[in-house]
Amino acid sequence: MENKNISIGLFGFGCVGQGLYDVLNHSQGLKANIEKICVKDKNKTRKIDAGFFTYDKEEILKRGNHNVVVELIDNADEAFAIVKQAMNNGVSVVTANKKMLAENFRELYEIQTRNKVALIYEGSAGGSIPIIRNLEEYYDNELLSSVKGILNGTCNYILTRMEFENKDYQDVLKDAQSNGFAESDPWLDVAGFDTKFKALLLTVHAFGIVLNPEDIFNTGIQNVSYEDILYAKQRGLRIKMLAVSHKVGDKFRVYTLPHFVSGDSELYNVNYEYNAVEVEGAYSCKQTFVGKGAGSHPTGSAVLSDISALTYDYKYGYKKLKKFISSSGIIPEGKPQIEYDFAIKLYIRYQERERLNDLEIISVEEEYKASGTNYIIANVNFKSLFNIYNKRDNKLFICVI
Ligand code: HSE
Repeated sequence: MENKNISIGLFGFGCVGQGLYDVLNHSQGLKANIEKICVKDKNKTRKIDAGFFTYDKEEILKRGNHNVVVELIDNADEAFAIVKQAMNNGVSVVTANKKMLAENFRELYEIQTRNKVALIYEGSAGGSIPIIRNLEEYYDNELLSSVKGILNGTCNYILTRMEFENKDYQDVLKDAQSNGFAESDPWLDVAGFDTKFKALLLTVHAFGIVLNPEDIFNTGIQNVSYEDILYAKQRGLRIKMLAVSHKVGDKFRVYTLPHFVSGDSELYNVNYEYNAVEVEGAYSCKQTFVGKGAGSHPTGSAVLSDISALTYDYKYGYKKLKKFISSSGIIPEGKPQIEYDFAIKLYIRYQERERLNDLEIISVEEEYKASGTNYIIANVNFKSLFNIYNKRDNKLFICVI
């Protein structure tokens, strides 16, 4: 069968949109062209001919000239409206918008099924790492037990440069922003929301479980200090911001938290904006995928691969998810399959001791107090972490040890 020609209506010409434009122009043999690009800002100077651009989304969505919409804008709510409208018009969509996907997964699944169109999103998790299609296709019959890894380039870049160059957190965050790694609202990166959205998507494709973002606990490196980096370094460890989705007995534990990792972990040497995903299966054992997790061209290349997949009418089969879907097509709530009541060993650095009162501390293994830095190492009931969820001013740095 001849691969079909793809006429792309593109939304957004920021970091990833421009990356896609470059990689598509250098690709060979792909029958795909960007024909119109919808952008917001009329005053921005752009590196390609003005004739490509429109400021009216209906020009792409209504004309019916494009058989694929590629959505690469920043705002998740606007992206959702665009993606819905395109699919309802019978057009397949490629997106890299993990927030939009994670927040609206059920509805998006239902719309794509009803309209018999594809919605594919390899660029939404792990940047250039081909993880979603691998979980979906390669591991379709493997009994997976764990998917975990570094899924946020910004956090990894900050942690690496703080350790290697003694750099200040705020300075490196600025560099992550100017390199195009960070989200427009970098809180999403540093506080672990972006990692969590990606964990949610990987959990769908690895285990067929659909969670809501609020079902997954996240905290990040927003309060990491040089003392924490030093604590790790002196013990031969490194801090890595991890997404974890793994099976324990007949339940799953899914969360995103910084972890101390030791030199014998493959994640230890994954630095800067690189991401890594470790997949463990009963028969395949452990396999680790490593690649650039953020940035214009790496993410653009994942989007290009999705466009290429649409030339042969690829769709996710959602094979694992379909095992749980009833005949009425309803996706069950994933939350009952998740375990929250378990002990987790944490290093917690604090400024005010009373900030720990909200946590259910089972036992304290070590407590250190000095002027300017205090920490405890304690076994904590995981579910009590939700009591401190997204509190911007608590100054706690929490790391699994
Ligand atoms: N802000 C994201 C990151 C971009 O730093 O990983 C790629 O999803």
